[in-house]
Amino acid sequence: MADEPLVLGIETSCDETGVGIVRGTTLLADAVASSVDEHARFGGVVPEVASRAHLEAMVPTIERALKDAGVSARDLDGIAVTAGPGLAGALLVGVSAAKAYAYALGKPLYGVNHLAAHICVDQLEHGPLPEPTMALLVSGGHSSLLLSSDITSDVRPLGATIDDAAGEAFDKIARVLNLGFPGGPVIDRYAKEGDPSAIAFPRGLTGPRDPAYDFSFSGLKTAVARWIEAKRAAGEEVPVRDVSASFQEAVVDVLTRKAVRACRDEGVDHLMIGGGVAANSRLRALAQERCEAAGIQLRVPRMKLCTDNGAMVAALGAEMVARNRTPSGWDLSADSSLPVTDPHVPGNHDHDHDHVHEVSKENLYS
Ligand code: KG4
Ligand code: ZN
Repeated sequence: MADEPLVLGIETSCDETGVGIVRGTTLLADAVASSVDEHARFGGVVPEVASRAHLEAMVPTIERALKDAGVSARDLDGIAVTAGPGLAGALLVGVSAAKAYAYALGKPLYGVNHLAAHICVDQLEHGPLPEPTMALLVSGGHSSLLLSSDITSDVRPLGATIDDAAGEAFDKIARVLNLGFPGGPVIDRYAKEGDPSAIAFPRGLTGPRDPAYDFSFSGLKTAVARWIEAKRAAGEEVPVRDVSASFQEAVVDVLTRKAVRACRDEGVDHLMIGGGVAANSRLRALAQERCEAAGIQLRVPRMKLCTDNGAMVAALGAEMVARNRTPSGWDLSADSSLPVTDPHVPGNHDHDHDHVHEVSKENLYS
């Protein structure tokens, strides 16, 4: 529908420069420039390298998104940007760009939460989010269970990892196995040819006294690393496929078990899974199996929408516009630890946009 809000979203919280354009819940463009190759030799994302790459990719990626969508920047109803959480320097590049475009074009600016955007992106795949929705977000930076009754205003954290994120565990184990970075996709591939029950690795925080919805992957990571070391010390070959499958099974078993339990406890019959680890084929399969058994409808966006991208930010921005949420002020800043309970950063009501607009212009000319 033409009267649905047309919003451009910018995502720079980690190593992907993402620019997406949506109209309401329809995806029009999803341009991504990744600096992942520049980080590979370091075995993880290097913040300074990421910030510089964002700076270089920003304008060309915005131009590509506008061209792909076939729209003019003048037609936009708003510009949304990830304000946090994420790498401070990387976020700052996106926030500065969003402010510059919004200011120059005279459009409202929406600083949004990266985690809420990971949930909202599913609207582009499966239509409006049911309210409430349970969300399992699993990526290189976060692993959390969130309950949302309105993605623009109410996101409640039920649990999170107390140490490593799920994707981080994949990346670290891949490093121990010398499989390169990022580790998730390659472990996923090897696991397909391995036996998930070959080695009984521990399931973190699943005891009767443990917190029901929190996760821990550092004990698992250590157990896998020790197991591999012992094999190597004994001069035996490490069965990469079986280790991958058994490790992966331990991660996805815990993730799906806790997510389904949270749905049951809270009486929620929809579960969405997002974040880079949602690309994992075994996680998708086991979640489907367990959700079906529990009468829960599973929503997992296509892989490209699960990893960091601009479309998810645009999707949340469009929802902010549709629900008349207050835009952010020109004083919007990047917040590397923006709480998930803040789906967006509303403007400072002490000064209105036009006023700041004029003052800034005066400053420019003086
Ligand atoms: O959401 P994302 O692109 O960036 C962050 O916000 O972290 O997630 C990246 C993470 C990496 O840790 C990567 O290893 C993991 O997602 N990942 C996977 C798979 N594809 C990516 N983990 C498991 N299986 C996969 N197929
Ligand atoms: Zn992410």
